[in-house]
Amino acid sequence: MASNWGFSTRAIHDEQHSCKKAGAISRPIVPAVAYAFDSAEEAAAVVDGTAEGRYYGRFGNETTDILEDKLADLEGAEASLAVSSGMAAISIALMGYLNAGDHVVVTRDVYGGTHKFLSVIAEKYGIHYDYVDCTSVAAIRNAVRSNTRVIYIETPSNPKLTLIDIEAVSLTAKDKGIKLIVDNTFMTPYLQNPLALGADIVVHSATKYLNGHGDVIAGIICGRKMDIDHMRYNIMGQLGQNLNAWDAFLILRGIKTLGVRMEKHCSNAMKAAHYLSSHPMVEQVHYPGLPSHPQCELAERQMRLTGGIIAFEVKGGAEGGKQFINDLKMALISFSLGDPETLVQHPASMTHSSIPEHELTDFGISPGLIRLSVGLEEPEDIINDLDQAFSTLVDGVGSR
Ligand SMILES: Cc1ncc(COP(=O)(O)O)c(C=O)c1O
Repeated sequence: MASNWGFSTRAIHDEQHSCKKAGAISRPIVPAVAYAFDSAEEAAAVVDGTAEGRYYGRFGNETTDILEDKLADLEGAEASLAVSSGMAAISIALMGYLNAGDHVVVTRDVYGGTHKFLSVIAEKYGIHYDYVDCTSVAAIRNAVRSNTRVIYIETPSNPKLTLIDIEAVSLTAKDKGIKLIVDNTFMTPYLQNPLALGADIVVHSATKYLNGHGDVIAGIICGRKMDIDHMRYNIMGQLGQNLNAWDAFLILRGIKTLGVRMEKHCSNAMKAAHYLSSHPMVEQVHYPGLPSHPQCELAERQMRLTGGIIAFEVKGGAEGGKQFINDLKMALISFSLGDPETLVQHPASMTHSSIPEHELTDFGISPGLIRLSVGLEEPEDIINDLDQAFSTLVDGVGSR
């Protein structure tokens, strides 16, 4: 790949086309599970890692290899690993570094599934964690114990769009000999590159913007080859969390348009955020592109554009929030994000419902908070839809 190519050129082109004979441009879907060897010695060398090669589909396939090379290139990583979901990426990355008795510092308003993995599974296997306000390096330093092995952050966070200074946290992590894992799902490599800012591992739910069409569940882990090999051969393959060839192909196809899609998501979100911030029925808008966001200076430093997700609080608390999303006519009520369709949800009763109420309050996830994944429709149609839902809210809040 030409080293001076820009993001979208690298997202679209590959070094070599797979099928020189037929000239096929799109990449092959190779579903093979079994591989044949010329000799027993060659098979033994591949399985013990002394020779390069693949021996069984649970550890990868040719289509996931292409996807992994693509993501490693776009994230600026030595290697990457394609897995069966964003949660597989998160759990494999954490298990890659943590053993029983270890401790992890986790950012506070983290994705609900990550919270559940830590409290239900990791805890059961003797892994300890503390939720810490990672916007403060001092708070991280205070929370670090002698057995802390990982700092895990999401920036912007889901759902409150809190930003964390990746570079500052990575300096603290390095100083303490701790690994830093960053969930880059909301940003994609088009908008933010945590490895360049000092992180050790980047995880993605590729289900969201990377695939971008709401028809694949997948995850990606990017980092040093040594760490990725350990995660592939000792965790992913053993737990059977590999990605299949067809889904890898769909993500490769989605990534070709990642740049243009992210530009449009961001410009639509900026327009919607301005609209929301001027509406009398909105108490607060959380969007890093607005000057009212407390960390807009960090957004400018760390993110190329400010993303497609907005969180906002409507008047009327939980009842007002639910009524508002029920009254939307074009936006769809959904747990996902990053799709062409504008998707909306109520975190307290949907994506973050497994988090106990007192923790939701601690994390600042208020009963009336709405998360909007701004889609690729015409911006006027998105705003008109919000507007008509507000008009019924103004008339009827608290009366249904
Ligand atoms: C920020 C973030 N990380 C990880 C995940 C988990 O991804 P998946 O559903 O692909 O397992 C999600 C899902 O919504 C998410 O929003």
